[in-house]
Formats: sequence, structure tokens, C-alpha cells
Amino acid sequence: MASSSAASIIFFTIFAGIISLSQSSLVDHACGTNGNYTTNSLYDRNLGTALAKLYSNANTSNSGFYNASVGKDSDKVNALVLCRGDVQPGICRSCVRDAVDKIRKLCPNQKEAVEWYDECMLRYSNDSVINNPVNEPTREMFNAKNATDAVQFSKDRKALLDEVREEAIVQKFATRNMSTGTDGKSTIYGLMQCTPDLDIDGCHDCLDDALEEIADGSGTIGGQVLKPSCRLRFEITPFYNETTIVFAPSPQPQPSPPPPSSSSHGKDNITRIVIITVVVIVGFAVLLLILVCIFKKKPKQRTDTATFQTDNVEEIRSSDSLQYDFNTIEVATKHFSPSNKLGQGGFGAVFKGTLKSGQEVAVKRLSKGSEQGEEEFKNEVLLVAQLQHRNLVRLLGFCYEGTERLLIYEFVPNGSLDRFIFETTRRSFLDWEQRYKIIGGVARGLLYLHEDSRLRIIHRDLKPSNVLLDADMNPKISDFGMARLFGVDETQGNTSRVVGTYGYMAPEYAMYGEFSARSDVFSFGVLVLEIVSGQRNNCFRNGRNVQELTSAAWKNWQQESASDIIDPTLKNSSESAREIIRCIHIGLLCVQENVAERPTMASVVLMLNTFSLALALPSQPAFLSRSGSGSRVSERSSQALDHSMDLASITELHPR
Ligand SMILES: *[C@@H]1O[C@H](CO)[C@@H](O)[C@H](O)[C@H]1NC(C)=O
Ligand SMILES: *[C@@H]1O[C@H](CO)[C@@H](O)[C@H](O)[C@H]1NC(C)=O
Ligand SMILES: *[C@@H]1O[C@H](CO)[C@@H](O)[C@H](O)[C@H]1NC(C)=O
Ligand SMILES: *[C@@H]1O[C@H](CO)[C@@H](O)[C@H](O)[C@H]1NC(C)=O
Ligand SMILES: *[C@@H]1O[C@H](CO)[C@@H](O)[C@H](O)[C@H]1NC(C)=O
Ligand SMILES: *[C@@H]1O[C@H](CO)[C@@H](O)[C@H](O)[C@H]1NC(C)=O
Ligand SMILES: *[C@@H]1O[C@H](CO)[C@@H](O)[C@H](O)[C@H]1NC(C)=O
Repeated sequence: MASSSAASIIFFTIFAGIISLSQSSLVDHACGTNGNYTTNSLYDRNLGTALAKLYSNANTSNSGFYNASVGKDSDKVNALVLCRGDVQPGICRSCVRDAVDKIRKLCPNQKEAVEWYDECMLRYSNDSVINNPVNEPTREMFNAKNATDAVQFSKDRKALLDEVREEAIVQKFATRNMSTGTDGKSTIYGLMQCTPDLDIDGCHDCLDDALEEIADGSGTIGGQVLKPSCRLRFEITPFYNETTIVFAPSPQPQPSPPPPSSSSHGKDNITRIVIITVVVIVGFAVLLLILVCIFKKKPKQRTDTATFQTDNVEEIRSSDSLQYDFNTIEVATKHFSPSNKLGQGGFGAVFKGTLKSGQEVAVKRLSKGSEQGEEEFKNEVLLVAQLQHRNLVRLLGFCYEGTERLLIYEFVPNGSLDRFIFETTRRSFLDWEQRYKIIGGVARGLLYLHEDSRLRIIHRDLKPSNVLLDADMNPKISDFGMARLFGVDETQGNTSRVVGTYGYMAPEYAMYGEFSARSDVFSFGVLVLEIVSGQRNNCFRNGRNVQELTSAAWKNWQQESASDIIDPTLKNSSESAREIIRCIHIGLLCVQENVAERPTMASVVLMLNTFSLALALPSQPAFLSRSGSGSRVSERSSQALDHSMDLASITELHPR
């Protein structure tokens, strides 16, 4: 009886395989390097349960992204499936079914594997698959045919894909087309997608890698790169469905988990069938191989062996490992000697220190005033220390002894941004390219604090002296999470204790203590205008007049002389002029008095990255004396209105 049921299962499997092959096309797969599991082991059963979960989730839900984790410790299996953003639910479902059916046959007994279809992908591993960007293994495929004008074509392709990427890193899925060729007759179509759990940086890294690889194919008319965390493809024929683009399938909430894998009830059956299937499948191996070969087009493939990167797994640190001994820090900072003092911030003085290991650190000695207890303080430090982003200064630990509270940060060598942009001699050291990089980095760091981190932190005191520059002049935001560390309730929308610096504070915050992510956006806008002009907001000099930078920017904008506020040391390049004006435009949008008119950081990042995106029109910013014309939109601006798309709709597209 067992053998007859097994036979029918095998028949069904192959039959179903043929059916679904006609719908979903398997492109390739890779079995990882994490070793093998033994048949019928707990891992084996957990994998079965995880795949079954994906299968049934896909069957009952219309979201294109599903994940499942089953088991614990070394037997934990993490799996996800993701459908391409334009694939309709029915096709997505059958692709997921097909992927689930095949993965164990393609990578028998492998602890991790990834499987790519045109319409979807499946990935499982004993390591985390969520928030763990993995760029390897990778598969590249190119069309064998070259474009007639290969040089022009690869230029156009690059321009197109750069645009697609900038949209994809925010929305996790993007497509775009562009005409190419001297007669403009042919069109290039591009598509990119990241798994929706990735933040902007993870997605950016993965797609950047993919873009580098696709560049190998110089003039070919089509190609794609497949990675566990992202995919990229371009063709000269439409290969995606323009009408069904849904933006970034949002991670669906996990339904209440079925009982854990320990109940092997029913799984034994499946495992037995798998054993028999494996034995009998040898007979069908030839048939399968042929089928696979037919659907596998690999003109070119990387020869290096695929390896999964596992070093990204987030280590969970306890407060003990973060706690430093006061004596250690005293020695490191030479007893907080004035010669080691780096600066004085709103929350206390900062000293440079060198630990015994030789590691350089910055130590912030908090001024007394917090009434937080030790446990509470520890917990907050632990949370803030988990915020990790390349544009945030990393908090390494703390010290809490008696009345002393110290925060220990990574040391950032080039000091703060204000020491560059506001100093005549050093200002010229920062060319536009570097300033633009700083603006973009600060925007990403802030976006991470607002949306991508688990804590959703509002900075409340963003200004040039809180933006530090590393050895490569990459910006790192410092002093974030101070409200938490000082025990101010972050969840409440207003506070009696207004932290922040006049000139950077949004009016609603300065006046009523009301803060929100949009008050940070305001400070960001001021920062952008300062970076562009090289002058401080509260003492902008225009000839002999001293006025607020925001109002000077607005007045010049209205008079179509926005370029007058640009730092003279930047003016010699007309190439960057458009970019600079666009930054002034974005800065003005950020400092709008009306909170609702300010963009979110997600849209700011999108605006900075996507040059072709039309911007909304700024109206009068806050803190401007209201005398003079009441007209809020200048002539030029109303012309631009015709071409501007509705920014609000873009804002809403961000998945969250
Ligand atoms: C996954 O398996 C590999 C190889 O067996 C092992 O090195 C790694 O630590 C495992 N990862 C986890 C999270 O257990
Ligand atoms: C793991 O499986 C692969 C392929 O099935 C096989 O070649 C290899 O020998 C196995 N390794 C171990 C340690 O069992
Ligand atoms: C999936 O849905 C189809 C029809 O929509 C149904 O026939 C099938 O039994 C379902 N499978 C699972 C595993 O839920
Ligand atoms: C699936 O992913 C979401 C977010 O990406 C996460 O909140 C959820 O816990 C995950 N589910 C499992 C079972 O890992
Ligand atoms: C396409 O161009 C590449 C170099 O750019 C060349 O190596 C390759 O042979 C060309 N292929 C065809 C089919 O002409
Ligand atoms: C290119 O994309 C636009 C939308 O962005 C669409 O309206 C247009 O039809 C597409 N062109 C082609 C040739 O597919
Ligand atoms: C694209 O999607 C629409 C709407 O769902 C559908 O009617 C159409 O057949 C699809 N086109 C292709 C080429 O798949």
C-alpha cells in the first residue's frame, strides 16, 4: 500500500511538475555552503513544515511575500518566497507551489538553498533570511546578441538602470523603459527588485553589486542578475506587465503559527515518501535533467563557487557586554583631560579616548540631570546601541557609576560638519560632489531612524555639529536617541523639555513642544540650505544684509535668483548647477511651515536619488516675516506645476 501511494505521489509530482513548468519557468538554483542535514532529522522535518507554511500562505493570501521560521537553535529553518512585483496573484501562487515542490529535489539534504524563477524566488537557510542581505551566490545571464550600436546602447542601458535602482531602493520594486538608438525606435525595459525586508542600504548594496556584474555584458541586448536578496533584468522587449505593477509587496503579518515541528505527526509520512521518491527519482533523473536543461538558459555563469555570507547575522549583545568600567574610561581619556576634549554638546562634553586595545573612542560625559534609574538607563542604551547604520555614529557602550553617566561611541576622525562648511578656509575643501554625498547620507541615516529601525527615533537636534565625517568624508549622524537616554517619553507627541537648537527647530516644536518626524525634516531642510550656501541659518549674509537663510532662500527662489545663495566656491561648475538648485528646492520643501506640506524622509531620499522626479512647489517657509507679497507661488513655479506630478502619491507608495 505504501508503495502504491508512493507511486501515485511520484506520478503526481512529475505530472504536476510538467503542468507547472508550463506556467512558471525555473531559471536557476544554488545550493548553499552550510552543509547537509540528515534525512528524517529534526531539520528535515522543520524544513518540511516551513515549506508547507509558505505553500499554504501563498494559497490563501494575495501578498507577494511570505516568510516562515520553524524550530529553534541549530535546527531552525528560515524560509521566504517573493514574487516579482508585477506578477498577478494567481501566477504568483502557482510559482510558489512549483518552487516549494522542486527545491528539495534540486538541493537534496542541503541546509540552505535558493531557487530563482522568472516570476518568483524561494530561499531557505539555517541562518536568518530576514534583514540579512545576501549578495552571493549570484547568477548572471546575457543575451548572446549585441546591439547594433553597442556603445550607445550600453550608455542608455546604464542611464535607465541607474534610474530604476534609485526607485527600487526605496520601493523595493521598480520598472522603467527608455527609448534608445539614434532613431529612438527601440526601447529598453528594466526591472529591479529587493526582498521587502531590506532597508535602503541593504537593497542599495545588492543592486549595486548586480549593476557591476551586468556591466560585464557591455553591449548585449538583454541580461539579468539573480541574487538571494535582489534581482535585476533588462531586455529590449517588454517582459513585465506594465498594468499590474504593484509597489513593493509589503511583508504580511505572520498568521498564528501552527504547532511547532516537534509533532512529527504526518511529517513522517512525507519524509518516507521523500526517501522513496529520491530512490525512484534516479530513474527519472535523466528526464528531469532534460527538463531542467530546457528551461535553464545560461550563456554565461560565474565560475567561482557560490558562498553564502553568514557574517551579517545580528549578534544580540547584552547590557553586560556594553558596560564599561569607569576606571577604564578615565584612563582612556587621561582623566578627562582638557587636551582630550573634542567638544561640548547639549548633553555634555565629549572626550577622545584610547582603550587598552588601541581602539579610539569618543566618550560623552552626560551632564547630570536625568532621573533615570540604572536599569532603565541600561535598557535604553541597549536599544540605542542596536541602531546600526553606516550613516549613524555607532554607540559602543556606556558607563553608569555613582553620578557618572558616560556614553562610549566609535571615534569619527574628521570631526563635525560645521567645522568644514562654516569655515572660510576649509569650506572650499568640500566640493559639490562631497557635499551632495553628505546630504544623501544624512537623509538615509535620518530615514533609518524614522522608518527602518525598530525604534522609530526622532532626532530632535539635527544640525551640522551633530553630523560627523569619517575618514572618507561620509556623514554619520550623532546624538540620536538622546531623548530616550534621558528618559523623555518618545511616544508622546509633545514634551515640556524642548531639546534642540534655535534656528534648526521646526516652529511647532520650538513654540509648542510638538515634535514628529516632520520636525526632523525641517531641521534637515535647514541643514541642506546651509550645506549649499556655506552659511549659518541665523546669520546669512547677502551683501550687507543679515537675514535668515531660509527666508533668503525663499526670496531668491521667488525672484528666480536661487543661485545667488550658493556658496561661491561651488559656482565654477555648471554641470552641478542643476543638482544644487534641486537641493535648494528640496531644502525649501522641508522647511515649509505647514507640517503636512513637508515631505517624509522617504520621499526626500527618493527626490535626491531620482533626478527625473518632478518636485512639488515650495510655499513660504516658516520664520519669514509676513510683510510683502501674499502670493505664494511665483510665475516660474506655476509653469512648473503643469509638469509636476503629485508628490503625495509618491509618498504614499513607500511600503510601511
Ligand atoms: C548554519 O549552519 C552552518 C554550518 O553547519 C553553521 O556554521 C552556522 O553557524 C549555522 N547557523 C546558525 C544560525 O545556526
Ligand atoms: C552533502 O551532499 C552533497 C550532495 O548531496 C554530497 O556531495 C556531499 O558529499 C555531502 N556531504 C556530506 C558531508 O555528507
Ligand atoms: C490551494 O488552493 C486550491 C484551490 O484554490 C485547493 O484546491 C488546494 O487544496 C489548496 N492547497 C492547500 C495546500 O491549501
Ligand atoms: C516575517 O517577516 C516579518 C517582517 O519582515 C517579521 O515581522 C516576521 O516575524 C517574520 N515571520 C517569521 C515567522 O519569521
Ligand atoms: C558582442 O560584443 C562582445 C564585446 O563587446 C564580443 O566579445 C562578442 O563576441 C559579441 N557577440 C556577438 C554575437 O557579436
Ligand atoms: C514606458 O513606460 C510608460 C510609463 O512609465 C508607459 O506609459 C509606456 O507605454 C511605456 N512604453 C513602452 C514602449 O512600453
Ligand atoms: C497584465 O495584467 C492585466 C491586468 O491584470 C491582464 O489583463 C493582462 O493580461 C496582463 N498582461 C500580460 C501580458 O500578462
